[in-house]
Amino acid sequence: MYNLLKGKKGLIFGALNDKSLAWKVAEKAYEEGAEFVLTNTPVSMRFGEIHELAAKCNTIVVPADATNVKDLENLLDKTMEHFGGKIDFILHSVAMSLNVRKGRNYDNLDYGYLNKTLDISAISFHKLLQAAKKKDAINKWGSVVALSYVAAQKTLYRYNDMADAKAMLESIARSFGYIYGREKKIRVNTISQSPTMTTAGSGVKGIDGLMDFTERMSPLGNATADEFANFCITLFSDLTKKVTMQNLYHDGGFSSMGMSLRAMTMYNQALDNPVEPENYDD
Ligand SMILES: NC(=O)c1ccc[n+]([C@@H]2O[C@H](COP(=O)([O-])OP(=O)(O)OC[C@H]3O[C@@H](n4cnc5c(N)ncnc54)[C@H](O)[C@@H]3O)[C@@H](O)[C@H]2O)c1
Repeated sequence: MYNLLKGKKGLIFGALNDKSLAWKVAEKAYEEGAEFVLTNTPVSMRFGEIHELAAKCNTIVVPADATNVKDLENLLDKTMEHFGGKIDFILHSVAMSLNVRKGRNYDNLDYGYLNKTLDISAISFHKLLQAAKKKDAINKWGSVVALSYVAAQKTLYRYNDMADAKAMLESIARSFGYIYGREKKIRVNTISQSPTMTTAGSGVKGIDGLMDFTERMSPLGNATADEFANFCITLFSDLTKKVTMQNLYHDGGFSSMGMSLRAMTMYNQALDNPVEPENYDD
């Protein structure tokens, strides 16, 4: 414990259960001396365990659907009321794809679902930043972080329309980061995290195989949820004041790898003894 967030106040989206990346951030932020409000949708509050986390961190939960501007405005008002003033950090740890959930492939998308994916997983970040800026809810040198994935840059099978959402999310961090930085000295970044076994993570078909592959391809191995929380805390702290408009990879080096000798040897051997996947379209 370093007391890195002593005196800081924040808002944390997306803690569903103790596997959630946001849950780990909340625990770590509490340990580091922060106070924060927790939020999630009314449905996930019912099915998840967020109240347990709130009790542990001695705080309140305010429900909000991150796609609903009125909900976000109410959430920011309630949060500022709770603290009697502005906040210093926000974690946006929110995503969902109905195309993934309903097993629709990328070349057979339902466009109603696609709109939902983009709204929940990317545009909600813009809505949050815009509402926070209009309300002047964040202190100077505050920090906002959203969660991304390398599929925004590189094609990974089965990540589906979530890849488009993450590309948009990272773009929003840059575009809003410019305005928020120039006008209010507030940082906006995304962290591109290794695949992690959470509720959202396990929605990606074949995540076990993917995690195994990235673990072996990354010189440092996959980053865990606890390691993610540590990294996130540094971005909320005053130690990273001039980091903004970045997509920061937290993935053990995976995103910079092309091919390792070991992987190439195994791949070539496997081609001599092929085991056909069920479906090459995936
Ligand atoms: N798990 C991974 O492998 C991985 C890797 C990189 C990035 N991410 C990203 O991390 C973030 C958090 O996911 P997680 O892996 O902790 O899974 P999770 O399922 O625990 O969290 C996802 C959260 O999004 C919330 N959510 C969904 N729709 C919402 C809405 N309309 N309004 C408000 N909240 C809503 C859910 O209630 C849930 O708490 C997501 O953005 C995800 O894409 C996950």
